[in-house]
Amino acid sequence: MSALNRHQVDREPNAQEACALVVNGQSCNLSVATEASLMHVLRNDLVLNGPKYGCGLGQCGACTVLIDGVAARACVVPAHGVQGRAITTLEGLGTRDQLHPVQQAFIEEQAAQCGYCLNGMILMTVSLLTQNPDPTESEIRHALSGNFCRCGTHIEIIRAVKRAAVLMRAFHRSSHDKR
Ligand code: FES
Ligand code: FES
Repeated sequence: MSALNRHQVDREPNAQEACALVVNGQSCNLSVATEASLMHVLRNDLVLNGPKYGCGLGQCGACTVLIDGVAARACVVPAHGVQGRAITTLEGLGTRDQLHPVQQAFIEEQAAQCGYCLNGMILMTVSLLTQNPDPTESEIRHALSGNFCRCGTHIEIIRAVKRAAVLMRAFHRSSHDKR
């Protein structure tokens, strides 16, 4: 028996352990199955339904969240492995009254049909623009290449990312001027 298999057999299948997460700026102390994915905990324990279940295999991007500001696929991230890190879901980006610039750009460009992929598209865009505030179209395409949209809304989504880049730069300029 391999070491991995022995480890799996030795473990109680549904054992629960304390798990301290920081989600959208709030500390949450939970009892979570040792094997639970971050997506499972966000959706089922914290009722944050921004992250969507698509493939469950880390291949479609529907479940994207930010971990310390960087996009990650919550369906393949073990919840216990991200204790204490800053996790941001779609719900933590903006509010109805004060949208995040990326959310605003997606609405202004009408970049959605069914909307199922939008959680991943928006959070991947936030991650991209944080690292690269003025991406070229080819950089945008590359960054979003692992996020699938079954409705074929890609043209509008790319337009929305370009608009989001402009809005984010303006937002950062005005926050800087107010200091
Ligand atoms: S549901 Fe996580 S990448 Fe598809
Ligand atoms: S808008 Fe339907 S999957 Fe993208």
